[in-house]
Amino acid sequence: MDKQQLGCSRPIPAKRYLVFFAFYTAEQIGTSKSSCPSRKMSLLSAVACLLPILTVTVCAPIPFEMVDMTYTFDENTLFWPEQKKFELAVKMNGTTKGGFWLQTEEYFSGIHVGTHMDAPCHFAKGRWTVDQIPLNHLVAPAAVVDITKKAELDRDALVEIEDLQNWEMITGHILNGTIIMIRSGWGRRWPNREAYTGTADQDPTKLHFPGMSKAAAQWLVDRRRIYGVGIDTLSVDNGVSQDFPTHRILLDKNIFGLENVANMEKLPIYGATIYAMPMKVGKASGAPTRIMATYPKHLPFYWGK
Ligand SMILES: *[C@@H]1O[C@H](CO)[C@@H](O)[C@H](O)[C@H]1NC(C)=O
Ligand SMILES: *[C@@H]1O[C@H](CO)[C@@H](O)[C@H](O)[C@H]1NC(C)=O
Ligand SMILES: [Zn+2]
Repeated sequence: MDKQQLGCSRPIPAKRYLVFFAFYTAEQIGTSKSSCPSRKMSLLSAVACLLPILTVTVCAPIPFEMVDMTYTFDENTLFWPEQKKFELAVKMNGTTKGGFWLQTEEYFSGIHVGTHMDAPCHFAKGRWTVDQIPLNHLVAPAAVVDITKKAELDRDALVEIEDLQNWEMITGHILNGTIIMIRSGWGRRWPNREAYTGTADQDPTKLHFPGMSKAAAQWLVDRRRIYGVGIDTLSVDNGVSQDFPTHRILLDKNIFGLENVANMEKLPIYGATIYAMPMKVGKASGAPTRIMATYPKHLPFYWGK
């Protein structure tokens, strides 16, 4: 894997973002709903009017980091033992009789292969299919819960309630409204099947990798309101699980899963925004998903380290 190609920085959209933010703020604190020169011009609305101009002229653009969190789909893509592996079949790749170049392929794949989304209906009857998940659930702040240290000691390690509470304590934020991203350090093992899944055999009873505990999932649905849980392993339940309680608890509350998420170590624990865009397959229990994250550069405190 060529690491140079993965994260990249791009300072372009910051100005537009700031303009938007300034106008949005003005609208929030200003008395008039749309235009600035309102008849009852108070000090507050005057400040609100000046804010966009000040922001645009005074502030330099904030550079944003962009992180690609999806593995390439190819013959090396890892998957759950019982799934059909990803295959690309070249239909045409050359000069046609008409004299022009044409490249086209067909692909074959299980739905739960590589970097993908588990739609709520995967483990909960009647819950959202992948095409039904609202867009505002797919773009949300990332809460990165790091269990790298305990996963190094135990390859069946689990995110516990305590790990979730620690994230809230360290960042000073509540988990509500986030997509929780579990960082176990397993990304380093991709795409080595044995190192990543715990077995070179296609045997679901021999899997070993970290996940989230049943108790933590239950605590999340009882005490918090989150949109999804992503992980840098094959499944949000750990490898030894045979009855998938974490899937069942989360998905039943229309909380989606993201599995085989790449580059988890490139995210700050707080401050990034996740964009998780599954292929919009009608009625399906999941889909291959392009996931990316953005976060403002030069803000070391966001790393919480
Ligand atoms: C198509 O052809 C190009 C140029 O010969 C080659 O680089 C590329 O790998 C081919 N694509 C596939 C999918 O085989
Ligand atoms: C977070 O969500 C839970 C569950 O919906 C709710 O009870 C709690 O009040 C929320 N906390 C905050 C600070 O909004
Ligand atoms: Zn899945």
